Amino acid sequence: MSKTALITGASKGIGKEIAITLSKEGYNIALNYRKENEELLKLKEDIEKNNVKCLLIQGDVSNFEDCERFVKETIQEFENIDVLVNNAGITKDMLLMRMKKEDFEDVIDINLVGTFNVTKNVIQYMLKARAGRIINISSVVGISGNAGQTNYSASKAGIIGFTKSLAKEVASRNILVNAIAPGFIKTDMTEVLSENVKEEIQKNIPLKRIGEAKDVANLVKFLSSEESSYITGQVINVDGGMLM
Ligand SMILES: NC(=O)c1ccc[n+]([C@@H]2O[C@H](COP(=O)([O-])OP(=O)(O)OC[C@H]3O[C@@H](n4cnc5c(N)ncnc54)[C@H](O)[C@@H]3O)[C@@H](O)[C@H]2O)c1
Repeated sequence: MSKTALITGASKGIGKEIAITLSKEGYNIALNYRKENEELLKLKEDIEKNNVKCLLIQGDVSNFEDCERFVKETIQEFENIDVLVNNAGITKDMLLMRMKKEDFEDVIDINLVGTFNVTKNVIQYMLKARAGRIINISSVVGISGNAGQTNYSASKAGIIGFTKSLAKEVASRNILVNAIAPGFIKTDMTEVLSENVKEEIQKNIPLKRIGEAKDVANLVKFLSSEESSYITGQVINVDGGMLM
């Protein structure tokens, strides 16, 4: 039976690169997206050029019923989920003084509760299979904190606690749970920052370059593979040395 990877928020950015990378490793892809866009069908086609299937699964990760439905759709199509990548995420940056309650809640609901919603629906199949890999996309600011990101940092720190606790719960069933903490990666999420801010950030990265989605996808590939079978409960930074 061929292997399956479910990736949330995978219509663009880091998630899209993870989907493409895992398809090249022979995984069928269940590609979660929230809103249809014109590039989605082209992405499905590109993925299927790697001789795998790509199932597009619509759903908002902050909605538990959506997650229940799209996980069922994935199981109906592929029978199992070998790798889950909780990647969907948003930012709504603002100093706490001016942050609206909704902006705090939205970020927690999508980034942290979304990770729970999808994992909760997937874990039963991994437990039955006595195998699985769960890879949660956190952030270096979940470790270091960052002014203007109390909501986002809290959600990403929460993901780290979630990862370590779940890793302990399911290790005996051969399910490995790890988190990736990217630093500054070139995607739409970081595109909104001014050139000055980006230059300033780049100066503080020891490797002197802004990361690419591929840098994160390569680690997901490793954490999905047999080569990483003795690694669980870890948070691995992909940040050019930004946070040491
Ligand atoms: N870009 C960076 O520098 C950086 C750094 C650290 C962590 N991250 C994390 O990496 C992940 C991917 O971010 P990105 O940089 O590719 O950003 P992005 O904005 O390009 O992509 C985010 C994806 O998540 C999806 N998404 C948002 N809300 C959703 C919801 N409710 N349900 C389903 N999908 C939803 C979006 O549609 C999009 O496809 C996020 O979790 C982000 O926090 C990014």
